[in-house]
Amino acid sequence: MVGKAQGMYAYSSHTEISLLMVLNFAFTEGKYNGSTLSVLARNEAFSTMREMPIVGGTGVFRFARGYAQARTRSMSQVEAIVEYNVFVFHYR
Ligand SMILES: *[C@@H]1O[C@H](CO)[C@@H](O)[C@H](O)[C@H]1NC(C)=O
Repeated sequence: MVGKAQGMYAYSSHTEISLLMVLNFAFTEGKYNGSTLSVLARNEAFSTMREMPIVGGTGVFRFARGYAQARTRSMSQVEAIVEYNVFVFHYR
C-alpha cells in the first residue's frame, strides 16, 4: 500500500446513478509520502470507465493537473473495489 483514498460522494442526480466525488489520494510511502492529489468530479458509477479531473495537489504534486480513469473491479451490496489509473503533470 502506498496511500489511501479519502473523501466522500453524494448522489447528485434524481434521474440516474450519478455521483459527485470529492476525494484525495493521500500518499504515505516512498517519494510521494505526504503528498496528495485532489479529485472533484462527476462519477456515472455504473459506466464501464469513468474519467475524472485531477484538480490539484500538495507536496510533490503542487500545481498538478490531470485526469483519472476509474473502473469497477468488483461490487457487492455493501462495497465496491475500484481501480483508478491517474495521469498528472506536475513540476517537482
Ligand atoms: C511519511 O511521512 C511521515 C510524516 O512526515 C513520517 O512520519 C513517516 O515516517 C513517513 N513514512 C515513510 C514510509 O517514509
